[in-house]
Amino acid sequence: MRLATVAETRAFGRSLAAQLQAGDLVILSGPLGAGKTALTQGIGEGLGVTGRVTSPTFVIARVHRGPLPLVHVDAYRLRDSGRLDLDDLGIDEELDRAVVVVEWGEGVVEQLSDSHLEVRLERHDDDTRTATVTGVGPRWA
Ligand SMILES: Nc1ncnc2c1ncn2[C@@H]1O[C@H](COP(=O)(O)OP(=O)(O)O)[C@@H](O)[C@H]1O
Ligand SMILES: [Mg+2]
Repeated sequence: MRLATVAETRAFGRSLAAQLQAGDLVILSGPLGAGKTALTQGIGEGLGVTGRVTSPTFVIARVHRGPLPLVHVDAYRLRDSGRLDLDDLGIDEELDRAVVVVEWGEGVVEQLSDSHLEVRLERHDDDTRTATVTGVGPRWA
């Protein structure tokens, strides 16, 4: 899917949110500036959560309350650390009743769930983006 502007990326996030339910894991991949946080902002808008969705780089995980809460994780430092202890995130209790969106999560957090939705974002020279969505596991079969 072609995303011409950041507004379109957010709108795509809102439409994704309409498909999501508690316990869903969404893994966002793509380089710095690809629009992972912008997409998460759209997902947050669609879920109707409170608080501005910002880059969680310095907190690793942030919980946004709402009818369907959003747990927004930045796994960049987790993969960097070479040691992955998801228990350290303290989000175990949230997983079943929230939507969990993980930036830089590919190859790092798949084991959190038997299913996940992967959204790969590519950035083109004209500043448009392409999003490729792949569902993995029984939830998306
Ligand atoms: N089509 C587009 N989709 C998403 N972001 C875009 C687009 N065009 C320009 N941008 C800009 O690119 C940046 C994307 O940043 P961000 O969402 O933080 O990326 P990431 O989290 O992947 O590092 C924002 O400054 C946004 O305004
Ligand atoms: Mg980001």
